[in-house]
Amino acid sequence: MKTTISQVYRHVGEEVTIGAWLANKRSSGKIQFLQLRDGSGFIQGVLVKNEVPESVWEAAESLTQESSLYVTGVVREDRRAPSGYELTVKDIEIIQIARDYPITPKEHGVDFLMDHRHLWLRSRRQHAILRVRNEIIRATFNFFHEKGFIKIDPPILTGSSAEGTTELFHIKYFDRDAYLSQSGQLYMEAAAMAFGKVFSFGPTFRAEKSKTRRHLIEFWMIEPEMAFVEHEENLEIQEQYVSHLVESVLAHCRTELETLGRDVTKLENVKAPFPRITYDEAIKLLKEKGFDDIEWGDDFGAPHETAIAESFDKPVFITHYPAKIKAFYMKPDPEREEVVLCDDLIAPEGYGEIIGGSQRIDDYDLLKRRYEEHRLTGPEYQWYLELRQYGSVPHSGFGLGLERTVAWICGLDHVRETIPFPRLLNRLYP
Ligand code: 4AD
Ligand code: MG
Repeated sequence: MKTTISQVYRHVGEEVTIGAWLANKRSSGKIQFLQLRDGSGFIQGVLVKNEVPESVWEAAESLTQESSLYVTGVVREDRRAPSGYELTVKDIEIIQIARDYPITPKEHGVDFLMDHRHLWLRSRRQHAILRVRNEIIRATFNFFHEKGFIKIDPPILTGSSAEGTTELFHIKYFDRDAYLSQSGQLYMEAAAMAFGKVFSFGPTFRAEKSKTRRHLIEFWMIEPEMAFVEHEENLEIQEQYVSHLVESVLAHCRTELETLGRDVTKLENVKAPFPRITYDEAIKLLKEKGFDDIEWGDDFGAPHETAIAESFDKPVFITHYPAKIKAFYMKPDPEREEVVLCDDLIAPEGYGEIIGGSQRIDDYDLLKRRYEEHRLTGPEYQWYLELRQYGSVPHSGFGLGLERTVAWICGLDHVRETIPFPRLLNRLYP
């Protein structure tokens, strides 16, 4: 019976065949222990010299790291084994003997590993991280579908900017100029006027020359947009969504979190509602913490976000930022025009901003004025303005950065390991 490592628990006492790679191997002369992986998991195969034919023993001896094989054996339950099961090997069919696999069990530098990212993905730790990423994606679809959102795919090639114009990736679109999408938001607003509640999940691009542990040039964003939803309700959906992500990872990725050495007690605490502070309160808090130079109107950098997060054991919303440091489309607070109805959600433990969201301007004249103030002119903005002409309604939305969320939940110091093939300032290979 052909099966996979993740399914062996269904076949205790039975003989199964698994297509696998050799991750590692150890031998005592009379017994060989094969660490096997097949993508679905890891299992130990055990061969006893005087219980298998000579040819099978020799085949096992010839296996090198990352050699591929079909292994046949009997599944045994074993409490001491990390996976809970072991395979008593009966037969081995070698597919390919791998020569000089570059990533050995010894320590390698990050640059070396990044240059071998196409192979590094096979390691236990990378495997665990990308499984958590997969769980977050699955939980995202579940959450929004259950709440009646429909998935809409905004374009990746665009004719205009959605966030700052300085971070746009410029490309040639035949004889015209185009850009890679920085955010699907503007298109999602059109979709929300057609479908009510929508979400997107796709790649976005920022030509930022930042070389930090939180910035990727290409990253994936989940962008919900909701008609008839105002600032307060927008925050409620965000905290429910993030709580759901953490809860799903805790429920389905225990082994992965263990492999990563993640302190899960910190995650178990992440349940809605989340604390909220205004930008004004954040400035006050920063001054108390010794950031003497910070002034009203300054944007927050990573050290500020980390300092604010230290005061809370859950993600914290910072709301009502000054209009002048936020995007043109954010709705001013009717009670205080110099701030906008927006929020940044700051993850705990120093992982920084994972969500940016806001209520959008729904008034035609105001939006037009904002365009002029931001010097955004030209026909490519016309369609967005038109949304405010035909049944404009209050609406809000947000964008969650997938990689920063994975980094936080997995407890990683850098986002480069949260995406299969990271695009960084100095990295386009492999
Ligand atoms: O705060 P941002 O720029 O917001 C927007 O793009 C809005 N249009 C979203 C919306 O309202 N629909 O980006 C949203 C999130 C950030 O909070 C962060 O998690 C992530 O996207 N992000 C990045 N992640 C990795 N690398 C980068 N260079 C990122 N820039 C933003
Ligand atoms: Mg932001």
